[in-house]
Amino acid sequence: MVETLLELAGIGVSYPGVRALDNVSLRLQRGEVVGLIGENGAGKSTLMRVLGGVIAPSEGVIRVGETTHPRMTVREATQAGIAFVHQELNLFENLDVAANVFIGREKLTGGGLRLVDNAQMRASVAPLLARLGADFSPDTLVDNLSIAQRQMVEIAKALSIDARVIIMDEPTSSLTISETERLLEVIADLKAHGISVIYISHRLGEIMTCADRVVVLRDGRTVGELARNELSHAAMIRLMIGRDLKALYTPPKRAPQPGGCSIVDLVTTAFPDRQINLSVRRGEIFGLAGLVGAGRTSLARAAFGIDPVLGGEIRIDNEKVAVASPRDAIRQGIYLVPEDRKKSGLVLEMPIRENVTLASLANYARMWLVDGAAERKAAKEQSKSLSIRAPSIDIEAVTLSGGNQQKVVLGKWLSMQPRVMFFDEPTRGIDVGAKSEIYALMRDLADRGVAIVMISSDMEEVIGVSDRVGVMHEGTVSGVLERDQLSEYNVLRLAMGQAVQTTEVVTS
Ligand SMILES: Nc1ncnc2c1ncn2[C@@H]1O[C@H](COP(=O)(O)OP(=O)(O)OP(=O)(O)O)[C@@H](O)[C@H]1O
Ligand SMILES: [Mg+2]
Repeated sequence: MVETLLELAGIGVSYPGVRALDNVSLRLQRGEVVGLIGENGAGKSTLMRVLGGVIAPSEGVIRVGETTHPRMTVREATQAGIAFVHQELNLFENLDVAANVFIGREKLTGGGLRLVDNAQMRASVAPLLARLGADFSPDTLVDNLSIAQRQMVEIAKALSIDARVIIMDEPTSSLTISETERLLEVIADLKAHGISVIYISHRLGEIMTCADRVVVLRDGRTVGELARNELSHAAMIRLMIGRDLKALYTPPKRAPQPGGCSIVDLVTTAFPDRQINLSVRRGEIFGLAGLVGAGRTSLARAAFGIDPVLGGEIRIDNEKVAVASPRDAIRQGIYLVPEDRKKSGLVLEMPIRENVTLASLANYARMWLVDGAAERKAAKEQSKSLSIRAPSIDIEAVTLSGGNQQKVVLGKWLSMQPRVMFFDEPTRGIDVGAKSEIYALMRDLADRGVAIVMISSDMEEVIGVSDRVGVMHEGTVSGVLERDQLSEYNVLRLAMGQAVQTTEVVTS
């Protein structure tokens, strides 16, 4: 017999100028994995915030078992066995992993003093980390963890409260393929133990793998539902965007041109005893794959002058360029669209208008004078060409959905005149329609002669978008694959440090 675990009925949520949810209903059975999909801003995270007790809906009710709640507090949600793996990371960086898992539920020592029992908390967290295949220990400071590892901590936290329902809001957007596979195994295991999962993702392949049923939201409404046997990329896309998508990838209009960016014997702070060698031609999109922690982000940060360069050089069109700061990099035409939009890409308190245009670059480039009218015009054009969904360009970026925030970050950099552009996980958290727009934008830049380096952990994307792919392993480039050598198998082997037949293997 199917057992209904919980139900959201007739949920409505409004924000100033936005009807985020309108009469949305969702039912969840015991041991069921429901895929929740929809474009950026469709209302997925909002619906889950209602279920997690983070926000109160203005209409509708939440039924858990026999109890009907017009609203829930976070505490009630937790007591009802609902755990949340957040889309944006909400951990305390100055605490260790175990303390974060047990935050608000700290274990205390026995006896009179009742101190926080770190040893016991660490001991209980260790097996959870092992179950997730995590490569860090419970006493690691969260500040020292990568985005991928932090997400693992959030998942461990959910596992630790013995949840009956685990909400995963884009849990794999910063995980590598092997970590993603591990997570999907974990989900199958949870399901086998009668735990239900609500799985939000823009990676439709993952939804195909794990979902028993898919619910589709569009503009705050439920627009359809697909049973497991009805699932296909095309069916999901059609419901999400209301039409068929022509092509996800834009082919190049011209061949790569001579010149471009060469990284010669470069040494970064992340791997002081390794050298990186890499050559990216003007007009090509060079994919940079590898496991999280292989040194891809450090390379981009060094090239952009954020981290010091310890050795070697960067050449553009065969000329050595000096990059000691982001300001130098920008002067040389080197740009970085960073990975963590909250930290380095976006000023959340500023309106979209200022985020998209040069104003926010003042710190870097000292362009203090801003022409208000020109800024508005540029911001409007950028918002339009990237289809940024917001009531106006004057609202603060913090109120945008995750994917729309990423588009704002992109808009800022695309309004410059780049020679070399590093994109670090450019479509993380972005919906399928917007992905195709961003691929088209990158292709357009490449066709205009920009050398593009796209760091990506999304295998479908690396293979679909790149003209060539370099794979990094432990701080060095373990191989470069030409278009006709591109396969999941070859990328994975190089990422693990194993050999494949490549035209060019750079060792150091
Ligand atoms: N705190 C807020 N204040 C104002 N508007 C908000 C707030 N949170 C969300 N919204 C708006 O509500 C709508 C739904 O947003 P939500 O974050 O639920 O979308 P989503 O489906 O999770 O998108 P994504 O795939 O980009 O994560 C959007 O239009 C968003 O801008
Ligand atoms: Mg969301």
